[in-house]
Order: sequence, then C-alpha cells, then structure tokens
Amino acid sequence: MNDHGSMGRTARLSADEAGLAEAAAILQRGGLVAFPTETVYGLGADATQAEAVAGIYAAKERPSFNPLISHLESFEAAKVQGTFDDTARKLAEAFWPGPLTLVVPVAPTCTISDLARAGLDSVGLRVPAHPLAHALLKATGRPVAAPSANRSGRVSPTDADHVLSDLDGRIDAVVEGGASDVGVESTIVACLGGAPRLLRPGGVPREAIEALIGQTLESGLEGGEKNPLAPGMLASHYAPRAQVRLNATAIEAGEAILLFGPERMQGSEQAKAALNLSKNGDLKEAAAHLFSYLRQLDASGAQTIAVAPIPETGLGDAINDRLRRAAAER
Ligand code: TXA
Ligand code: MG
Repeated sequence: MNDHGSMGRTARLSADEAGLAEAAAILQRGGLVAFPTETVYGLGADATQAEAVAGIYAAKERPSFNPLISHLESFEAAKVQGTFDDTARKLAEAFWPGPLTLVVPVAPTCTISDLARAGLDSVGLRVPAHPLAHALLKATGRPVAAPSANRSGRVSPTDADHVLSDLDGRIDAVVEGGASDVGVESTIVACLGGAPRLLRPGGVPREAIEALIGQTLESGLEGGEKNPLAPGMLASHYAPRAQVRLNATAIEAGEAILLFGPERMQGSEQAKAALNLSKNGDLKEAAAHLFSYLRQLDASGAQTIAVAPIPETGLGDAINDRLRRAAAER
C-alpha cells in the first residue's frame, strides 16, 4: 500500500472458518481487515505493529492521530495490556463482552504500539460481543486496533457494503458479517485512578454503569481531535517535556533533532541526539516511529527538539498535526 492508502482490490471474506482464517493471516502480516462488531464495523490492524496501525490512518485519510481502541478476545487477554483497578475490573466483568471500552493505565506487559496509543501511558481496551469479532480476535491472537471502518468525516458503517463504499481498494479485506445491531459506538469509560469518567456515551447506557458501581460517572469529554480534554482531567495528547521547533533547517547547540528523509541537517553533528523518522522519506514508516522517537529524543534531556520539514501529503497531515500540537502545548 502507498501513503494514500491505495492498493489492489479489497477481498470480500465469508463469515466462516476459512474466511476468518484468511482475515487473521492478513492481520498477522500487517494488513488491514474490516470486520463486524456489535456496534459498528471496525477497520482492524494488528495493534502491536505500528506500521499496520499507520495504515489505518492512511486508508481513512484521517488528518490527525488520536488513541485507538484495541480489541481483545477476553478479559484475560486485556489484563496483559492494561492495569485494572477495582472499578475497571467490576465494569469488565459486568459488561464484557459488549459495547464498553475501558481506558486504563498501560500494563508493564503491554504490547500495543505507541501509535495505537497516540503516545499515551493509557490504553483503550474492548472485548466485543459479536461472535465473528470474537472468532477473528481468537484466531489472530493479538490485540486489534479498530476505529470505525469509514473514511474520515463520513458516517460509521454498519454493514460490509457501507465499508466498501468508503474503503474499497484501500484495505485488504472485509469480513461479510451482516448488519451490526447496536449501530452506535461503544461507551468509553476512563479508570485512571480517582473517579471513573465517561469519555463517550455509547452502546452501554450511563445509568447501567452508574447502577453497577454505585456512583455517578464524572464527565470527561471524548479525547478526540474535536474535543481536547481540559488540562489536568485526563491527558488526551502526549506532549514531550522539551520544546518542539518545527520546519527546522539548521540546528542550534544542545538541540535534539528529528529528521525525515535522506537530507542531513546543518549543524547536526552538534545534536544532543538525532533520529530519522524515515531515511527513505516513507510517511507510513515515519508515522510508525513518531511517538517512540519523540519520547527517545525527550529522554536525551535536550531543551528543544528540532524537527525537519515533513510534507503535508498523505499521512504527513496527521504527523504534522501531532507535531504542531506538541509544539504548541505548554
Ligand atoms: O464501538 C466502537 O468502539 C468502535 C468499534 C469498531 O469497536 N471502535 C471505535 O474505536 O469507535 P475508535 O478507535 O475510533 O475510538 C477512539 C476513541 C478516541 O477518540 C478516544 O476517545 C478513546 O477512544 N480512547 C482510546 N484510547 C484512549 C486513551 N488512552 N485515552 C483517552 N481516550 C482514549
Ligand atoms: Mg468513527
């Protein structure tokens, strides 16, 4: 697949053992597969492979990175990825499998890529109830990151034809599993210590959650690009400690540098640390490295991270959006 998400034909896979085995194999080798869940169809990629996750953004033409929900076959599998406090455990036991997503701190054993978490130390996890989603996750044996399987700005798809009308030729396959019955996305609750917060209303009613935990849910806005959370409530974006200087063409003493493409930067021998997002100028590779490289450069102790110009095409939009936020957030 190229930066614009175009590729050959999208395969329609049947909802049987052979179709699911093929879907799992595609996911394991880093491809993109849309599949039914009880809420909406998800556009799945192996959450542990950052380049596969970058493919989701390319296919959806999403202009910014936000943390994605990773789907798991069981609560047991979810515990490898996240740390569940008492409230989170209670919610998982009551509502999983089902249309509830829990945002919890990453576990030390977490294998979900930085890109799927948008660089955060928390992770969004869900165990879907749809039997085909469950079977696919079991066959894949990995966390599967999956936002709704539509192009950015369009409505969420509830059947395979909706998916193909947006993404045909841009993803490897779709599992044909009939109509999703909930039709709205999962409810998202953050359990990050302190009171649990409702980040997005969805398939599980707020009242059902409050009745179970015996307390009112605090509200927290969805951490998407349209509704950044109030500072101090819940960090919705990873921000490096260092200042970030964009479109740098030369570096100053003591800076760390984030390069892109084959060109060297003037003064780079003096850099405190230097990493190249993609020496070949491949935006998908760059997206896959973005958050971990920012963290590594931040850890060098440099006051400023100077970032080389990155083209505003394809995934470059989302990369630049993230970098602009990192440069502005202070
Ligand atoms: O019903 C659904 O949840 C569908 C189906 C396919 O399962 N999936 C879905 O995924 O809507 P997605 O990736 O589009 O959800 C992303 C939202 C973010 O906008 C954010 O609100 C929340 O999940 N989220 C995920 N991880 C988070 C985190 N670490 N911190 C805060 N919010 C997080
Ligand atoms: Mg969506």
